[in-house]
Amino acid sequence: MTDKYFYVTTPIYYVNGEPHMGSAYCSLACDIMARFKRLDGYQVKFLTGTDEHGLKIFQAARDRGIEPQAFCDEISQKFRDLIPVMNLSVDDFIRTTEARHKRAAQALWAKLADRGDIYLSKYSGWYAVSDEAYYTDEEIITNDKGEKIAIASGKPVEWMEEESYFFRLSAFQDRLAEYFSAHPEAIGPKSRFNEIMSFIKSGLQDFSISRTTFSWGVPVPGDEKHVMYVWFDALTNYLSALGYPDTTPEMQNFWPETLHIVGKDIQRFHCVYWPAMLMAADLPVPKRVYSHGWLMAADGRKMSKSFGNFLVPEDFIDTYGLDQTRFYLLRDLSFGQDGNIGHDGIQRRKNELANDFGNLAQRVLMFIFKNNEARLPKITNLTADDQALLEASGIVLLETCRKHIDLQEFHLMLEAIWMVIRQANAYVDTQAPWGLKKTDTVRMETVLGVLCETVRRVAILCQPYMPDSCGRMLDQLMVAADKRNLADVSNEIGLEQGAVIEQPQGVFPRHVAVEAPA
Ligand code: MSP
Repeated sequence: MTDKYFYVTTPIYYVNGEPHMGSAYCSLACDIMARFKRLDGYQVKFLTGTDEHGLKIFQAARDRGIEPQAFCDEISQKFRDLIPVMNLSVDDFIRTTEARHKRAAQALWAKLADRGDIYLSKYSGWYAVSDEAYYTDEEIITNDKGEKIAIASGKPVEWMEEESYFFRLSAFQDRLAEYFSAHPEAIGPKSRFNEIMSFIKSGLQDFSISRTTFSWGVPVPGDEKHVMYVWFDALTNYLSALGYPDTTPEMQNFWPETLHIVGKDIQRFHCVYWPAMLMAADLPVPKRVYSHGWLMAADGRKMSKSFGNFLVPEDFIDTYGLDQTRFYLLRDLSFGQDGNIGHDGIQRRKNELANDFGNLAQRVLMFIFKNNEARLPKITNLTADDQALLEASGIVLLETCRKHIDLQEFHLMLEAIWMVIRQANAYVDTQAPWGLKKTDTVRMETVLGVLCETVRRVAILCQPYMPDSCGRMLDQLMVAADKRNLADVSNEIGLEQGAVIEQPQGVFPRHVAVEAPA
């Protein structure tokens, strides 16, 4: 049993709209982290779920004319349905309307209240329901229709005044600044770290954490006319799923071995409010929060439910394939930055997969099948060229992948792998194994063997991105199910030399343009 633990979480998604490519993108990145770490010998917990309280959800249910719980059940299920569609290796799905969550949120509240970090006061300000956030006078403007809107989101605001509980965030300013100065790796990417540090240093205000104007929320313990502010409740989900407040084995093992992956719009909640709440509860701060960029729509705006300008995963999966879609999203975009996605891009990447990786594997395996009695080749007498390729695809590549994955540099990890794939394709050209068939079959076997070994290692490393296709490629290479871990990528030859293969089937087809009907 391993003693290495890794807990990765998506944000919990609001159920006021259905999942789209933006939500799928974040969940997919978490899946790649989870799969990579499992292959690297960690015990992994991958959590996702839905955020179901607050005025926004309540109003969405009312607009549909159904009870909030029934509404949440329906939309939450759509997020659950995304799991098999995207082949996400989720371990747990949390809903904030579940009893285990309410219990955890109330326990955390009670703890903070006991410590004196929650107090009752009055709140007034400009409230944007769709952002579930208050804004100051400086943060709003009047648009050309005469409506007051929040500058940051463009969403309408209204003046609200209510009795509210506050969390004493101001008391944590110095501790947060000290903590992050000592742990710069706790916030990624680096540019976001600087943003958060200057926000903390600019002065933190206590923030309102309860509402009395509606009741669709977790009741505040001891004062049931208040419900918790949806963000207080939502952030707690990461602990609820571990069994907090009980000292469960999951709490002990997975907290704080945590990576929260979130969109850049919600990094402040995760990098300032959440760590302060944890500090107040005497709990350790998550190891790392990574804020990714947005998928943008063709209209130049963020793809979003409210703009209605979004793609859904099926738009790509049905046409280009699931693994191709997974590969495309993380290969084409730089995870920390905003990026555009579209059909041209995925067609290009699908063909890159087919031409570089698929073709390499298929050509080599087919040649072996036809010309080497379908036996995986024997590797003997390595030349400098052979060694160069084996070294490039061994420990060095594995270490580079680990480094990139720990920084959520998915596209750089794939680029590092692609350099090896390109090197292998160049090696095919220079070694010309097909020619050796007539002149030197021993050398031919070595060259083909080095290529199979390279494909084996690359396929192992690409499994987190394209689990199904790489699995099939490893099947064809006769790699046993328990020999597909990252520890099986080394400078040693792991190929089952002499094993008999079945007729190879191409794993990565090219994109075929469908002619428009005449
Ligand atoms: N419920 C809160 C999160 C609470 S976590 C304790 C929330 N929900 S959300 O449904 O609005 O957004 C969930 C995530 O989806 C956010 O990280 C957000 O950045 C992400 N995305 C929504 N649209 C997106 C894109 N167009 N592109 C990339 N990610 C996007 O916020």
